[in-house]
Amino acid sequence: MVLFEKAPAKINLSLDVLGKRTDGYHDVEMIMTTIDLADRVRLYAIEQDRIEVSLESRYVPSDERNLAYKAAVAFKRRYGLPFGVHIHIEKNIPVSAGLGGGSTDAAAVLRGLNRLCSFGIPEEELADLGAGIGSDVPFCVYGNTAIATGRGEKVEPLASPPSCWVVLAKPNIGVSTRTIFQQIKLEQLMHPNTKEIVHALSNKDFEHMCSSMGNVLENVTLTLYPEVQRIKDIMKHMGAPGVLMSGSGPTVYSLVENYSKAKRIYNGMRGFCQEVYLVRLLG
Ligand code: C5P
Repeated sequence: MVLFEKAPAKINLSLDVLGKRTDGYHDVEMIMTTIDLADRVRLYAIEQDRIEVSLESRYVPSDERNLAYKAAVAFKRRYGLPFGVHIHIEKNIPVSAGLGGGSTDAAAVLRGLNRLCSFGIPEEELADLGAGIGSDVPFCVYGNTAIATGRGEKVEPLASPPSCWVVLAKPNIGVSTRTIFQQIKLEQLMHPNTKEIVHALSNKDFEHMCSSMGNVLENVTLTLYPEVQRIKDIMKHMGAPGVLMSGSGPTVYSLVENYSKAKRIYNGMRGFCQEVYLVRLLG
């Protein structure tokens, strides 16, 4: 039996850092939502008792450094696998982009193995297992729209945003989340108003949602990589509403209600940036 799992990317409508923890991580408060830009994960049983991962990407290793591989190992360790498994990842989400590409692949593997083995493990348990693989994996197990706290592993569902288009532009650089977190100056942060975004989501209020969005990692990444600032400025210049960097970057996105306006911004951005996407929100 061959089984497919869709692994959608996420964007951060907000990302706030509340403090530094003793375990080297930060306490965060993030609102995330999934978008219709997705990797496709194919899983099937093999005769040999091993875990194989394959993918066509110059940037992602297929060995034990791959989060999808780690997820399969963690699943096998906790629940056992009645057979070996081959996992093929069709990579469509840009890598090291702030879009949770590795985390969503790992989450898709957890969901996929659960289905392949017919174990019926509740999502909460898969999310708990995912937390050991990466801070964004628990959110990716559930998908849709949610607020994540702790180091990202405590996930509470939220109302989905009003339906709109997302234009994403990824400058041609990869950003390490760890590096960005290390450079945060806690006392200088301009905290986004997370409660306002939650309200805006409940009321499906597009304007209010856009005006409340914020990401405290933005300043760090924009200072380290002026190219990201340039892309953000260009997008704003084109009249794009709701422009924000996702995660630790470098991808910058805009939320646009109207398709023809979204298409105009998408076409415009393609003149400045190689990797530009026009997709719908899923969450
Ligand atoms: O959990 P994950 O492996 O995705 O995190 C990558 C790095 O980002 C961590 O090693 C840590 O330096 C930083 N991080 C953090 N606080 C978080 C999440 C990530 O400091 N809540």
